[in-house]
Amino acid sequence: MMVLTLTLANLSIGILVNAQPFLKKHPAINPYNYEVVKEASFSKAAVTSAHPLASMVGAAIMKDGGNAFDAAIATQFSLAVVFPGAGNIGGGGFMLARKANGELIGIDYREAAPGKATRDMYLDAQGNPITKKSLDGASASGIPGSVAGMIATHAYAKLSLAKLIEPAIELAEYGYVITAREANGLNSQKANFLKNSSAPSAFTQREWKAGDTLYQPELAATLKRIQEKGLAGFYEGETADFIVKEMQYSEGIITKEDLKNYQPKFRKPIEFDYKGHHIISFSPPSSGGIIIAQMLKMIEPFNVGNMGQNTEASVSLMIEAQRRAYADRAEHMGDPDYWKVPTKTLISDEYAKDRMKDYVPGVAGSSKITLAGQVHESEETTHFSVIDAKGNMVAVTTTLNDTYGNKTIVAGAGFLLNNEMDDFSVKPGSPNMYGALGGEANSIVPGKRMLSSMTPTLVTLNGKPYISIGTPGGTTIPNQVFEGLVNIIDHKMTLKAAIDAPKFHHQWIPDVVGVESDFPEATIEALKVKGYNIVKRGKFGRMDGVVISKDGKRTAAGDKRGDDSVAGY
Ligand code: DON
Repeated sequence: MMVLTLTLANLSIGILVNAQPFLKKHPAINPYNYEVVKEASFSKAAVTSAHPLASMVGAAIMKDGGNAFDAAIATQFSLAVVFPGAGNIGGGGFMLARKANGELIGIDYREAAPGKATRDMYLDAQGNPITKKSLDGASASGIPGSVAGMIATHAYAKLSLAKLIEPAIELAEYGYVITAREANGLNSQKANFLKNSSAPSAFTQREWKAGDTLYQPELAATLKRIQEKGLAGFYEGETADFIVKEMQYSEGIITKEDLKNYQPKFRKPIEFDYKGHHIISFSPPSSGGIIIAQMLKMIEPFNVGNMGQNTEASVSLMIEAQRRAYADRAEHMGDPDYWKVPTKTLISDEYAKDRMKDYVPGVAGSSKITLAGQVHESEETTHFSVIDAKGNMVAVTTTLNDTYGNKTIVAGAGFLLNNEMDDFSVKPGSPNMYGALGGEANSIVPGKRMLSSMTPTLVTLNGKPYISIGTPGGTTIPNQVFEGLVNIIDHKMTLKAAIDAPKFHHQWIPDVVGVESDFPEATIEALKVKGYNIVKRGKFGRMDGVVISKDGKRTAAGDKRGDDSVAGY
């Protein structure tokens, strides 16, 4: 077991009273003193998430008789409290699951464009994008989907919704000690929080340092309303009033009707085989599942294992697959309820073969030449993975889009809103925050969901549950999952090594290869010689996963890049 101990200055001592039924029952979960555990094996069940407390909550819920769905719900609500940069109730996400009996479930709780949204709402009189409007303040928000998504997930859970929300309420009400990373995050956004929100909030009350306790009474009250009233506790009544009032402060357009009408949607997952493994991932409005299917199929004919991990040979092959798949993303992918996405063709073996027809090993391709294929058919998010004792697997990726979303805290309700509207193509040919291009497929229409890159993914081997994995990272997400899977399947790396390995990213346009700062220099030099334009970037995402080993143990791994931490029993 690998344990990293956080140095928490000014340790606060919590008083566990009867008002804390969850924490009282689980004294090992101490919000005022906890450790980051990066990797561990458990005999029955495991959770990996971006925060130790959220992972511990998920594991405890399973120990109390809950299944992987119960754990996922409790983890999502807890992350909304202890990981406010991306954990959320004001955003959206995708829940992908494979039940132990083989049944697949995909719940799309992506945000939707408000009823008053218009195609050109983020363009000025000259037709140029007003980037600030789709990123900052209430004007950037899509209708939040997370609460509805978790309530839809609850159909598969065993414990009451009230029990699953309780840990988050206690963490919000009685506080938890923040890490250095969180303190820095909150301090760096303080001015934006104050500028974009109609009132100061729990986040802006002071300059933070590691070891301080963050109390979120307004968020606790909102969570209690959800605990008591379910959907109506968020999408109607007092919480809805607070949201709509906040809209007026910065040109937001979400109405009470939008909130009341929001519906999560069931999506048929993307399924395909890669080198003896069965991969299950999310379908549109996520582009992730299609992209990883395309890329893995494009490289499947090659012996990537023999080429070596992160070598010029394997990386250049994979970059060329990335270039081709991301070109298709820009052209063909959007909300399937508004745009006919040619999924079947895009993920077919024939199409992958055709796309790689012009691939010449060792020669850098060009995004001027590689355009989207012709088809005749139709930096902060967070990911967590759960596998329970029965073998139910859940993978959830959820987001506010940018770190701390639109930096707007709903006054009186204590939660951050998303800036997911920026994931739409605000103008064809004009890049969004991630430099991603899009066109008609991803244009703004009321009710439509913006195209996502989030790629919660599951793998089975010989018909048995094997891996739950995913990551944040904007448009790098599908590439990271692609590389993570290749690391495990082709390069036979452990889950932890596969997650921590340096990553690379090509998204068609711009025609550059982003690499992490610890990427092997020899490979960078060899790629440059071949004509690739290499740009060193910061860290890519925070990949988390759980794998079932041959002896049935659940080995959970959290990314070295964050406070990601595992728990289980
Ligand atoms: O849905 C998407 O593709 C983006 N909104 C995800 C944002 C993200 O991963 C930011 N994280 N670093």
